[in-house]
Amino acid sequence: MDLKLEDKVAIVTGAGNGIGRGIALGLAAEGATVVATDLNAADAARVVADITAQGGKGLALQADATEEAAVGAMVAQTLAAFGQVDVLVNNVGGGADPELLVKLSVAEWDRAMTVNLRSVFLCAGAVAREMMPRRQGSIINISSISGKLGESLMGPYCAGKFGVIGLTQVLAKELGRYGITVNAVCPGYVWTPGWENIARVLRANYTTLAEKSTAQIFQERVRATVPLGRPQTPEEIASLVAFLASARARSITGQAINVDGGAVMH
Ligand SMILES: NC(=O)c1ccc[n+]([C@@H]2O[C@H](COP(=O)([O-])OP(=O)(O)OC[C@H]3O[C@@H](n4cnc5c(N)ncnc54)[C@H](O)[C@@H]3O)[C@@H](O)[C@H]2O)c1
Repeated sequence: MDLKLEDKVAIVTGAGNGIGRGIALGLAAEGATVVATDLNAADAARVVADITAQGGKGLALQADATEEAAVGAMVAQTLAAFGQVDVLVNNVGGGADPELLVKLSVAEWDRAMTVNLRSVFLCAGAVAREMMPRRQGSIINISSISGKLGESLMGPYCAGKFGVIGLTQVLAKELGRYGITVNAVCPGYVWTPGWENIARVLRANYTTLAEKSTAQIFQERVRATVPLGRPQTPEEIASLVAFLASARARSITGQAINVDGGAVMH
């Protein structure tokens, strides 16, 4: 299926690693010009080098998706380079160390809300203000199956990801009259650097996991909860994102679609 993204300019936040990197490469492979943004400038630059090596077009930007001024600069630099922005992928998220809610610090709660919700609020607002006069655009927010099912030790992360789906629905209703679609993609288990942090805290909380490697913890969770019996890849997340960014998905908005091997069925 040709998604015809050649004329589209896409901003991907947190594009330097993991799922964001897969999305940036996937959109570029479909022809989009990709603005790969990340806290880590070197990681963003590496992704754009890979895009260029594959014959694609891209620009690397260092930007903190949770800081208003940095988000404004990210959009301004995109417009200066390419004159338009057609697609925004709000991929930045995660951030909270697993902990029982009754033991959680206010600082850790705030950190999760900042990285998961403030980033979407700021980036969607800044980009939508550019999309509205052109009466077109696609915003894709990366939530999680943790945005559909509460999970112990994951309180702030679940609250943040449920919130991302809420913001997706609100934005879809508010921006629909401007021809802008807004959807959420909910990955299941994807092997990324982010898992080192999750596994570290799980080991500290569960004596049965204390001796297990991050890979073992990840594989056991997948086997226990995923009907297809295997983790998902960044490329599989990218496939849905690219489809949602294309005109073929122009009647789909306000949805939260799982790419999770069947782990969650609602
Ligand atoms: N990995 C999974 O199993 C999984 C499952 C469901 C949902 N998700 C979601 O997918 C998204 C990506 O997850 P991942 O596992 O690839 O993460 P990761 O930690 O492997 O990579 C995240 C990237 O975002 C960058 N980043 C972090 N904070 C930033 C900020 N404030 N501004 C700009 N860049 C920032 C990091 O530098 C890094 O390059 C997150 O929203 C996460 O919650 C991941």
